[in-house]
Amino acid sequence: MRTSRTSRTFGNLLRAGLAGLVVGVGLFAAGAAPAHAADTPLRDLAAAQGKVIGTAVTGSKLTGTYGDLAGSQFSSLTPGNAMKWGTVEPTRGSFNWTEADQIVAFAQAHGQQVRGHTLVWHNQNPSWLTNGTWTPAQLSSLLQNHISTEVGRYKGEIAAWDVVNEPFNEDGTYRSTIWYDGLGSDYIANALTWAHAADPNAKLYINDYNVEGVNAKSTALYNLVKDLKSRGVPIDGVGLQAHLILGQVPSSLQQNIQRFADLGVDVAITELDIRMALPSDSTKLAQQKADFKSVVAACVAVSRCVNVTVWGFTDSDSWVDSTFPGYGAATPYDANYAPKPAYYGIAEALGSTTTPPPTGACTAAYSVGSQWNTGFTGQVTISCSGASLSSWHVSWTYGAGQQITQAWNATCSQSGTAVSCANASYNGTVADGSSVTFGFNASWSGSNPVPAVTLS
Ligand code: XIL
Repeated sequence: MRTSRTSRTFGNLLRAGLAGLVVGVGLFAAGAAPAHAADTPLRDLAAAQGKVIGTAVTGSKLTGTYGDLAGSQFSSLTPGNAMKWGTVEPTRGSFNWTEADQIVAFAQAHGQQVRGHTLVWHNQNPSWLTNGTWTPAQLSSLLQNHISTEVGRYKGEIAAWDVVNEPFNEDGTYRSTIWYDGLGSDYIANALTWAHAADPNAKLYINDYNVEGVNAKSTALYNLVKDLKSRGVPIDGVGLQAHLILGQVPSSLQQNIQRFADLGVDVAITELDIRMALPSDSTKLAQQKADFKSVVAACVAVSRCVNVTVWGFTDSDSWVDSTFPGYGAATPYDANYAPKPAYYGIAEALGSTTTPPPTGACTAAYSVGSQWNTGFTGQVTISCSGASLSSWHVSWTYGAGQQITQAWNATCSQSGTAVSCANASYNGTVADGSSVTFGFNASWSGSNPVPAVTLS
């Protein structure tokens, strides 16, 4: 059952990968080569420290550059939404495991752990559940079935489950939820017990936000874990989400991690992102680097802190922008997959001694849009972060006989295999934190590989 599900899903994934869009990224930073390409991957740096480094992912995006980075830089994946109750059982009794299966298969193909997220929460539940009227006995049995079904399906394939998510209010009292209101605080111990029965080898976590520093909420979590341990309830770890704001890493983070470790549980930073008021600039990006570095360093300093997971690795796949209007740029890679200073902050906290490229860079990313039997539409996006341009020039070499026929928002010429494009009169300026895109039509035959582009 497990083997056939996995191999079928992996087959689909391979096909999707072959058909998927491939994006090439060129780096321009005061003449620097694309230095990040040769840097030691974060997962190797983390492994040398005995740590796991993870990212939340969206299953449908696991192709092209997104898939390459997710697979090569990280040693753990967390489905951002794919394992939530509302995703897996939108209609009562009718299950959709497609995206969850895809992510598990991808992780297995890349030698990665999976953090299961999440079994018991007050958000993203199916409406049949939240709109229903249930007796406590019915509610309890619904929850037990949900946990047994989902944990059982992935038995042996999930390193750790966020069993219970966000059980506390800011003052440390229990949050009023469908579970607490119907079942009392026992729902937590029961959920852990049921999850343990379904997969005795998975590490079982309670996960929450604003519990990174020592405060009323984290102390309530501490007291809960202590109580659960004293009662013999299977609890293996606490997850500190760490949805942080620029310049506001709690000074007691390491102390807080240590006090949980001293209780005899593991700790994971499960959803790290550090948002800033937009637009970003080089000062904010430097602060963000320092913030990421201090969070990862706090985990590195405590042996029972086992995993740091970012909640999306690229600014193009972050929940922040839509959830916190006016804020964004919260992840270690920019929207065009160029590593930001934050990336190097993580790497340095994991022991990297590679000199990061100069902060502030503009990059050009080439992608193929639609493609038909003789032609295709391509585009190049020039993005600046911590730097700006007043004019630009992008060049590349076509290796398979492609020929540009028409361009817009740039003046392009092709001589033999060499293509050269310069800004139009109206779009030479690329401000810090913004981007400009130009497009073109071209012909191709045989194959249409993505060229490396140079921005100058
Ligand atoms: C977020 C996802 O990233 C979004 O795509 C979704 O729309 C809402 O949920 N705490 C959690 C995560 O535990 O599950 C949330 O994920 C972010 C906050």
